[in-house]
Amino acid sequence: VRVLITGSAGLLGGRLALILRDRVDVVGSRHAQPSPQGVGDVHLDLDDEPSIRAAVEASRPDAVIHCAALADADACERDPEKAYRVNVIATATLARVCRSRGVRLIALSTDLVLPGTRAFTRESSEPPEPRLVYARTKLAAEAAVLAESPDFVVLRVALVIGRGHGPRPTASESVAWTLAAGRPARLFTDQFRTPIDPESVATALATLLTGRGSGLYHLGGPERLTRHQLGVRVARALALDPAPLDPVAQAELPIGAPRPSDVSMDSSRAVLELGWQARPLDEALRESRRQPD
Ligand SMILES: NC(=O)c1ccc[n+]([C@@H]2O[C@H](COP(=O)([O-])OP(=O)(O)OC[C@H]3O[C@@H](n4cnc5c(N)ncnc54)[C@H](OP(=O)(O)O)[C@@H]3O)[C@@H](O)[C@H]2O)c1
Repeated sequence: VRVLITGSAGLLGGRLALILRDRVDVVGSRHAQPSPQGVGDVHLDLDDEPSIRAAVEASRPDAVIHCAALADADACERDPEKAYRVNVIATATLARVCRSRGVRLIALSTDLVLPGTRAFTRESSEPPEPRLVYARTKLAAEAAVLAESPDFVVLRVALVIGRGHGPRPTASESVAWTLAAGRPARLFTDQFRTPIDPESVATALATLLTGRGSGLYHLGGPERLTRHQLGVRVARALALDPAPLDPVAQAELPIGAPRPSDVSMDSSRAVLELGWQARPLDEALRESRRQPD
């Protein structure tokens, strides 16, 4: 199986490319940053429609794993039009190109599309009403993918922890790097997530690449916890002093666009239909990079 992974220079896409290349033939996509060493890539600019078709034609994939996105929520708030072009229009174009060439599309989305009003939300449980521009564009992208073909897949991925790729840290690496540098970290006590590591996402992708499954899946980790609880677990897993972790409520620290309070996900559809299992949280946390590469 030959797979084009868009956004293969990114935090999640880069790590997925490195994990999945042991199982399938991986081609990455190059925008501003290069793909990981040893991963061949094709040029792709989501803001340039012809380049989307050209990237699929040049890489001749059986499937596309679409990770590339304007994934910084605050950047999306600052430039909603660009967020719409890159996250929605480009994804809709990619879906059209994939369907016309008989290529299976697996698009990554985010838990932030959920309303955040209750714990362990299922795929079918309530219509999302995102407030963030980032989340609104990702939700519109989900709809475009699912409307294009009943064989396509959307994976709503939770907050990424564990070992990531490139200069940006995963959520656990962010805590680890801050503690290792001797800096304090103020972490929210009123934002609940079900964090997940790239290895667990890759396990689900490997099954989907065999042709099983279609439609929308939630992919969250095995535990629901706040950002502060996550920080304490990171410190414990990496034998770092948790003392500088300062618990704080969102309202006390109004930085950036406010995030929904509980976007924890129930992932039992993936468990039942794909035989999927997320790795234990502490095992995933221990693989976090302790400092930037
Ligand atoms: N990180 C998380 O916690 C998390 C959680 C849930 C879902 N997700 C989803 O997972 C996916 C990957 O997120 P991430 O955290 O890995 O983001 P990231 O580190 O910011 O990576 C995004 C990738 O998209 C590429 N990209 C951005 N603009 C582009 C453009 N105009 N044309 C082509 N490529 C472009 C970037 O390439 P350059 O850097 O070269 O521009 C980069 O490789 C996204 O769909 C995101 O919504 C992430």
